[in-house]
Amino acid sequence: MCGIVGYTGHRQAYPVVLKGLKRLEYRGYDSSGVALLNGDLKVYKKKGKVSELEEAVIGQDLQANTGIGHTRWATHGEPSDRNAHPHQSASGTIAMIHNGIIENYASIKHELQNKGYVFKSDTDTEVLLNFIEDIKRNNNSSLEEALRIALRRIVGAYCILLVDIDEPETIIAARKGSPLVIGIGKGEHFLASDASPIIEYTKEVVYVNDYEIAIIKPDELVLKNLGNEKQTPFIQKLDLELAAIEKGGYEHFMLKEIHEQPDTIYDCLRGRLLHESGSITMSGVDNHLEALTSANRMVLVACGTSWHAALLAEYMFEELCRIPVEVEYASEFRYRNPVINRGDVIIAISQSGETADTLVALENAREKGAFIFGVVNAVGSSIARMSHAGAYSHAGPEIGVASTKAFTGQLAVLAMMALKIGYAKGSLNESRYLQLMKELEAIPEKVREILQDTSNIRAIAEKYKDASDFLYLGRGYNFPIALEGALKLKEISYIHAEGYPAAEMKHGPIALVDETLPVVFVATKDSYYEKIVSNVQEIKARKGIVIAVATEGDSVIPGMADDVMYVPDADEILAPILSVVPLQLLSYYIGIAKGLDVDKPRNLAKSVTVE
Ligand code: AGP
Ligand code: GLU
Repeated sequence: MCGIVGYTGHRQAYPVVLKGLKRLEYRGYDSSGVALLNGDLKVYKKKGKVSELEEAVIGQDLQANTGIGHTRWATHGEPSDRNAHPHQSASGTIAMIHNGIIENYASIKHELQNKGYVFKSDTDTEVLLNFIEDIKRNNNSSLEEALRIALRRIVGAYCILLVDIDEPETIIAARKGSPLVIGIGKGEHFLASDASPIIEYTKEVVYVNDYEIAIIKPDELVLKNLGNEKQTPFIQKLDLELAAIEKGGYEHFMLKEIHEQPDTIYDCLRGRLLHESGSITMSGVDNHLEALTSANRMVLVACGTSWHAALLAEYMFEELCRIPVEVEYASEFRYRNPVINRGDVIIAISQSGETADTLVALENAREKGAFIFGVVNAVGSSIARMSHAGAYSHAGPEIGVASTKAFTGQLAVLAMMALKIGYAKGSLNESRYLQLMKELEAIPEKVREILQDTSNIRAIAEKYKDASDFLYLGRGYNFPIALEGALKLKEISYIHAEGYPAAEMKHGPIALVDETLPVVFVATKDSYYEKIVSNVQEIKARKGIVIAVATEGDSVIPGMADDVMYVPDADEILAPILSVVPLQLLSYYIGIAKGLDVDKPRNLAKSVTVE
């Protein structure tokens, strides 16, 4: 949610900030803006994409060695030029950008209005900014001191960057709940919401922690806590290459990321799964094997696509580990008063590792003494850092807003965990353990097979692109895939789609079926196969259109379906990693056929750092 960039050093700030905003645009894209500090303060902002800002500033004076920039995902106030960031304080001397929500902004705004402040935008951000300026003026204090005082009163989540005419070449930053990375160069510093704007300049970074303030000059980085005590910056080396965040010849990030899956799943398994020696090495699991094997209950907490991975993991863990599992929407879990007992393990699943709902749900559970295990893709992210243990899904940066390769990476990690825990516990016998390991090892090549020729899926997409609704059905291990298929379609094509357990369909949704409704069945060969064949017949009997994901070599489903997308045969526990791939492609090609921006679908943002 929203991208933040900052630069101070010997280069021109504007090109660095603009390039950074383009790299972060997937995080929010309803407006963008920059503030440039060069003796005076210049602010340019514009509704729409970063390219519109770029056009709007042509011919302006952009000379400055210090600058900050923002790409917004509106929470308070419609997307417009005036609500775009950076905001300028009432005196015009301070500019600020913000990611997050100031929950108590209304009462502070009221106080400031009583003092005569007039607001130029509808945002919570401008309120915080004027609050800081008011404290600075009344206390005759530095910006840093005023910020510290202001933040003690703030309820909510923020990552903010400030520049002040009184403090040349300086950016002051603070975070709580929203991410911030600082890149350390030679006589220069870079700031951003994630490392993607930084890697082409330096690989040395510091992840700022919650409740820390950073004072950044070209040659100096000072970190302090809110009590004004200096903190030692922990410098880490980024393990990321520039190519990983570029399109590499593909038309869209989403397509590139779908096609990367054979490699990303392989990378996830590599060095961990060793079929020949019968071992799975995952240090996060190894170091806490006792807590995991003796868990009374596992609670899987996630949102969106990651929640679908959790749902599939429920099937895997219950089957292979015989541990009761509950799957929770993080946003519901955090506001309930959930019962968390000793012996419960909370498994958080998140691509970005920054999702606010998931993060806060975990913080609450952690306070109650729960053991937190994170399955996260973004290395060094907040959820990764706050978990007691974890396993990265190693899918590399995912830029397309619709999650694809991160999902299959999550499934690969969760499958390895289920195998490892089940085997250690004794609920999974050796021959089945070895068989599943072998099957898992073969998955990357099977995904590659699906991706070799996608023309059939493209043709199906063209055929059904004008449908107004879709129904997705699956049973057992393929039920979460039906949900995920429906979510992908909604996100990318704006077509209404629902996912259901196939048998549940007859309890209501079957009323929707007529000759115009495409029903996508995830109907691979598994122990539910005969049942799903009957469900397909029930739809056909009502003249519904059936599009099936079927196992290569199957002759029954293809005989009944109007259109078929094939996947190679695999064990039913692992088959979902294959069956989701044609559904990702179907959504992608429908989105393209409708002329939509599949990488940046309307209203969405990649990393949802507000609740
Ligand atoms: C996926 O396509 C979505 N854009 C969204 O549902 C996403 O999975 C959700 O916001 C959770 O994100 P996370 O995995 O980064 O926590
Ligand atoms: N709450 C702020 C706004 O609506 C910041 C939103 C964001 O994170 O982009 O402007």
